[in-house]
Amino acid sequence: VKAYPAAITIFGAKGDLTKRKLIPALYNLFTDHHLPPAFNIYCVDFLAVDENEFRKDMLAGINEFSRSGTADEVTWNEFAERLFYIQGDFLKKETYTSLCEKIKAFEKQNEQNSSRIFYFATAPRFIEIISEALYKHNLCNRDGLDRIVIEKPFGTDLDSAKKLNRFLAKRFSEKQIYRIDHYLGKEAVQNIMAFRFANYVFEPLWNRKYIDHIQISVTEQVGVGKRGGYYDSSGALRDMIQNHLLQLLCIVGMECPKAYKSEVIRDAKTKVMKSVKAYTTPQVFKNVVRGQYTAGSINNMPRPAYRKEEQVQSGSNTETFVAAKLFIDNERWKGVPFFMRTGKSLPAQSSVIVVQFKDTPHKIFKDDIVPNRLIISIQPELEISLLFESKVPGLQMKLKPVEMDFTYKESYTETIPEAYEALLLDVLHGDATLFMRADQIEAAWKVVMPIIEAWEKYPEKDLHMYKAGSCGPTASGNLLKPFAKEWYELPFSKTEKAI
Ligand code: BG6
Repeated sequence: VKAYPAAITIFGAKGDLTKRKLIPALYNLFTDHHLPPAFNIYCVDFLAVDENEFRKDMLAGINEFSRSGTADEVTWNEFAERLFYIQGDFLKKETYTSLCEKIKAFEKQNEQNSSRIFYFATAPRFIEIISEALYKHNLCNRDGLDRIVIEKPFGTDLDSAKKLNRFLAKRFSEKQIYRIDHYLGKEAVQNIMAFRFANYVFEPLWNRKYIDHIQISVTEQVGVGKRGGYYDSSGALRDMIQNHLLQLLCIVGMECPKAYKSEVIRDAKTKVMKSVKAYTTPQVFKNVVRGQYTAGSINNMPRPAYRKEEQVQSGSNTETFVAAKLFIDNERWKGVPFFMRTGKSLPAQSSVIVVQFKDTPHKIFKDDIVPNRLIISIQPELEISLLFESKVPGLQMKLKPVEMDFTYKESYTETIPEAYEALLLDVLHGDATLFMRADQIEAAWKVVMPIIEAWEKYPEKDLHMYKAGSCGPTASGNLLKPFAKEWYELPFSKTEKAI
């Protein structure tokens, strides 16, 4: 796939995302020779920052957050020469005229076509403002070459997402819009399609006849950190379920696409998202549990209550934990619950999908049998394991469940790219497979809207408190019945980088 010379602009240069994720990812791509030979990175923000100071700050970000650790001096110097800081107010014309001059000068040096990438690493309120300015200044108008990348949250509800889609559609073609969900760039998430559709063993079993239920858990040890202001108006449902967890549900639940092609895959995902059953308000309170953490401790370190976190309102009813039972209304999945849970200030970070198979219909052994279980671990460990019954060695027919394990550590020597590396490279290549299309994002909002509305109508009803460091509200366990006794116990890790 061809990546043209690229002028990459990041709006929101002084934000956390740029320092922690975007620049380290671009640096790693550069180190591994994946960036086009000619590229410049223009980082725009309103603060007055000396360019060299900015570069130093980005180097600190690479050294702290990049998978490759400390940057090599020679490589860094080469990279830094292509990294520029532009002080500019997103609201002012001059910002875009100055950006335009710089991009044009870069393009003049290159004989071939250059691609222009504009990454919105800004607060959502700037998306429309910057888009309009790019449009007016003709900065992003070549269909096959110019692209915008939009971070979540994409809207705050269905109406605002639709409005934003319409706004963007008037200025750019859908082909130019890359709505990012970084979960889709994770190596182990990308592997789910390979696992499902390149192996014939599981696909025949991948349906209501053999699968009892599915659990999707994304637990986090971190609290809201410094993002209290954003989080308090968002909550776990909008922050995690509407995007990351529903995307995981789509990959697990989708039909096999006709081909490994961007639009075909996105069609298949959208189709399954549209089949998720929407709840009425009473059904919401029966099938969705919300929680909020109170003071507690994790790894013997005290943790404040959510309501005491910076920039969080003292009487806030925002949920920091959600567990939900969802159903996909189609022939493959009718009646099979998809349980999801996500929360902050839980004992550890872990993203795991458990496919729980049904019990054997005919019992011939004395021992109780533990039904088969496929465990897809996305992080912190990347592994897939299958739990099955086996005879314990000895003179009796005694059974015990054992695990067949595939771990990336043992099977591969290749480095595992960060999600943002994979996704940024796809943007440079013009491959939108792992990005969300307008209709898919609206379908995801349709799934969560009844929940948002029910909770807004009854802000205090059934808001379950859980202690920071516990496994979440006990009410989330009741959701599983009669399908499972409990949530699959996560392989809790000991460490997690603070946010
Ligand atoms: C982000 C959410 O999208 O995903 C954060 O806004 C969350 O609240 C993060 O912490 C989790 O991502 P990861 O890759 O650390 O699991």
